[in-house]
Amino acid sequence: MQLSPRLSKIASLVPKCRVLADVGTDHGYIPLVCLQNGTAKHAIAMDINPMPLKRAEENFIKHGCMPRSELRLSDGLSKLQDGEADVIVIAGMGGPLICDIIKNGAHAIGDDTLLLLQPMIAPSELRSFLFANGYRVCDEYVVREDNKYYNIMAVRKGEAQPTDELIYIGANLGINSADTIGDYLDYKTRVCKAIIEGHSRSACPDNEAIAKYSHELSIYEAYQKELAK
Ligand SMILES: C[S@@+](CC[C@H](N)C(=O)[O-])C[C@H]1O[C@@H](n2cnc3c(N)ncnc32)[C@H](O)[C@@H]1O
Repeated sequence: MQLSPRLSKIASLVPKCRVLADVGTDHGYIPLVCLQNGTAKHAIAMDINPMPLKRAEENFIKHGCMPRSELRLSDGLSKLQDGEADVIVIAGMGGPLICDIIKNGAHAIGDDTLLLLQPMIAPSELRSFLFANGYRVCDEYVVREDNKYYNIMAVRKGEAQPTDELIYIGANLGINSADTIGDYLDYKTRVCKAIIEGHSRSACPDNEAIAKYSHELSIYEAYQKELAK
């Protein structure tokens, strides 16, 4: 099966595992590919809505993967038992929703569980939440698809000291996504500059927002300088 660059990158980060759980599975493509290529022995495809689960089921049947997979109607991780999955993927949802799923499903995340998270919005807020709640973003990747950039985080339980670079850019991004990081940082600086300019031009400028985005911009520019060395 040919996956999009975003899904393909997430699937490539799944290590050989006993049980892979995919929260908000929709089409079920990630578990399907991981079952097909043998990285996952067993997969649990979970979704809050029955229609996506039906879609995933049809895809599993079509590709002969039903015997090694399970479909669960579940709000977040609520229907996953403690330590049942060694890899949990939560992809294609907003950062705040991913925070809620992790907060409400902490029982299912063991000391050795690998979380692969791909927020559609608010990656920095998600990283801040993770640092504040006993999780460590071990590695970060960025993928470009259809002129959009997608952040992917490999996360485990553990303590780490949050720095501005870790919150706004992510761990080892320059190494893990060396081919994309330059364009990604150009994009992020352009967005920050446009927001700052928009606020500055306003009749009553939002000084808090200007300060926030100026700070963010300074982090991207410092990282760009580091990369240029
Ligand atoms: C945009 S799709 C993402 C599908 C796939 N994970 C991907 O990355 O392409 C989001 C899916 O998450 C499901 N979803 C939304 N909130 C959820 C929750 N609280 N728990 C489980 N699934 C949820 C939706 O029903 C939908 O199928």
